Amino acid sequence: MRLLLIGPPGSGKGTQATRIGNHYGIAHISSGELLRRQVEMDTAIGRAVQSQLARGDLVSDGIVMDLLRRPVETASRQGGYVLDGFPRTVAQAEAAYLIARELGAGVQVALYLNVPRDQVVERMVSRGRAAGRMDDNLEVINHRLEVFDEQTAPLLDYYANREVLVTVDGSKPPDDVTATAIDELDRVRPVLR
Ligand code: AP5
Repeated sequence: MRLLLIGPPGSGKGTQATRIGNHYGIAHISSGELLRRQVEMDTAIGRAVQSQLARGDLVSDGIVMDLLRRPVETASRQGGYVLDGFPRTVAQAEAAYLIARELGAGVQVALYLNVPRDQVVERMVSRGRAAGRMDDNLEVINHRLEVFDEQTAPLLDYYANREVLVTVDGSKPPDDVTATAIDELDRVRPVLR
């Protein structure tokens, strides 16, 4: 199965992608994690993207696509993937669609985690206090949410029009969200194209 998770920052994409990946035995690929790892390793890419990550702005499509291409290709050959954080814009979705079409590895399901704004803010503020992620302070959180509304939310219509959008209430406790997501995925699985 090849699926991606869409949701505002703090909606639980990373949490649920890990669990869904484990459940179906497919790879969890996170664009944000790949980028943060480049920063931690102090690579040329890491140095180039560090300030954008800290501000909560999107990094360039070319960098993200280059980082993702190999893990996505490998996972596609090995049963599928759960992609978390990509695509972030309709332009990224269209570029990925063209590449995936050549490989026969296009997205089959876009799972949207719907969580009210006050809840995602609360989750990120408390993670910021506990784990100190560089973009989990209130000013940057608000900016990340604006970026989501302006640049990422249009993907919901994009995937709804392609009839691959599945919406899950992400405001419940993590185990409930996972159970609902897996029920929904099992329901659509037999008819995936
Ligand atoms: P990215 O890493 O994708 O971050 P994000 O979208 O801002 O999302 P988060 O990681 O904050 O949240 P999440 O939805 O994964 O939730 P999580 O499971 O962690 O991107 C970071 C940056 O990288 C971007 O700003 C951009 O600069 C760059 N980037 C990434 N992809 C890019 C792309 N394609 N193009 C360009 N730039 C890109 O959970 C959040 C917290 O809530 C955790 O503490 C968790 O324990 C808790 N939690 C989770 N679920 C629940 C629940 N159900 N109930 C209560 N708490 C919960």
